[in-house]
Amino acid sequence: MELRGRSILGTFIHAPALGEVAVLREALVEIDGHGVVAAMHARSALSWRDAVDDAAASGRLWRPDGILLPGFVDLHVHAPQYRQLGQALDLPLQDWLQRYTFPLEARYSDLGHAAPIYDALVGDLLAGGTTTAVYHGTIHTPATRLLAEICVARRQRALVGRVAMDHPELCPPSYRDPDAAAALDGTRALIAAVRALPGNDGLVRPLVTPRFVPACTDALLAGLGALARDEGCAVQTHCSESDWAHRHVLDRFGRSDAQVLDGFGLLTPGTVLAHGNFLSDGDMALLAGCGAGIAHCALSNAYFAGAVFPLRAALARGVRVGLGTDIAGGPSASMFEAARAAVASSRMLETGVEPALPADRRGRPGSRIGIGEAFHLATAGGADLLGLPVGRFAPGQAFDAMLIDPAAPGGTVRLWGGESDPDLLATLLYGASRANIVSVWTGGCPADRRVG
Ligand code: GUN
Ligand code: FE
Repeated sequence: MELRGRSILGTFIHAPALGEVAVLREALVEIDGHGVVAAMHARSALSWRDAVDDAAASGRLWRPDGILLPGFVDLHVHAPQYRQLGQALDLPLQDWLQRYTFPLEARYSDLGHAAPIYDALVGDLLAGGTTTAVYHGTIHTPATRLLAEICVARRQRALVGRVAMDHPELCPPSYRDPDAAAALDGTRALIAAVRALPGNDGLVRPLVTPRFVPACTDALLAGLGALARDEGCAVQTHCSESDWAHRHVLDRFGRSDAQVLDGFGLLTPGTVLAHGNFLSDGDMALLAGCGAGIAHCALSNAYFAGAVFPLRAALARGVRVGLGTDIAGGPSASMFEAARAAVASSRMLETGVEPALPADRRGRPGSRIGIGEAFHLATAGGADLLGLPVGRFAPGQAFDAMLIDPAAPGGTVRLWGGESDPDLLATLLYGASRANIVSVWTGGCPADRRVG
């Protein structure tokens, strides 16, 4: 249902700040003609009765069956890798890249290969409640442009990057930019193409995307930093993901990933750094100071990182954090799974995992997050890092949302009635799956999540 210009009366749950979950039962949310929340009336507000009567009298009122949540913001998706979701996760990162990932990504020189995969991915992510996605494409400008077109057509909010990688030692001849100039030209072309896409009213934006420091020459990193500044374009890359990747940068530069990126002008407000598992305290201070943040990909980290991201420490130091699936480093496209994995991994960091050690020496106390905090990171947290007005229900925010029907056929969540506010949220987040998501909107318009 088109929601622009309508008023919705129902239960809304959001997490506008870390540690704050609001369950708004029988609230009225008014959406303007541009898909932006114009006003909200809590059940207890003096204005509520008149606002509901007005909406009903003018035929604008809609009372959905179910519960509304903000759409998820997935901060880290490798679109081409959807084709290998769940595969070869027993390999170390460097072998997985060389043996599986680079050969697969090379095939996206063929638009005929790219089109059905990108279309299925965007549809599947929308069907899973992801209304904003931050994508790595490939080194191919046409295929990456096609991904942006599909996002516009299906109405998924997105940031899309053409991957830049030219280092002859790390990147195979069959899959690398021939030199820094070619990578910069391709990136510049993608930025222009995305900004000029017909029908793109700001829904889809370009991103400067050095794959990660090991894959890029100094000339390319410097050029991309200058390009990001000149184009006013945000940046995404990987940072200190695994022991191998972290060490590789230290050996090459004598400095950490974060310091190297900063030196090349690639740490800017809104820069999305995937993983960041081995950030030092100094690195965290650097990120907090410049407004760059982390895409925390807990499920992927379980396979490739060799360590758990110290999420609590990063948050305490003022680093912005959101969640990512890291398709296909993580084997699930679901942000519900990403949120669950963020909670579970934080608990393992807190308690520690080596049973032969005494309990008081096993872990890092104070590391846990709860499911409400994971929900914040998966919605408003990610949106805040990107500077997008989504992720919470409030006047001025674009209406990007999903409707959860706990009674949907094939669904996996059961409500018994009488749940407290925290129990209601936890039951939905731990239990719901795709069958329970019965509608998805971006900017008040229904997103096209048809699959097949
Ligand atoms: N580091 C560089 N490229 C990649 C990638 O495709 N996936 C992951 N997880 N890490 C990377
Ligand atoms: Fe990644």
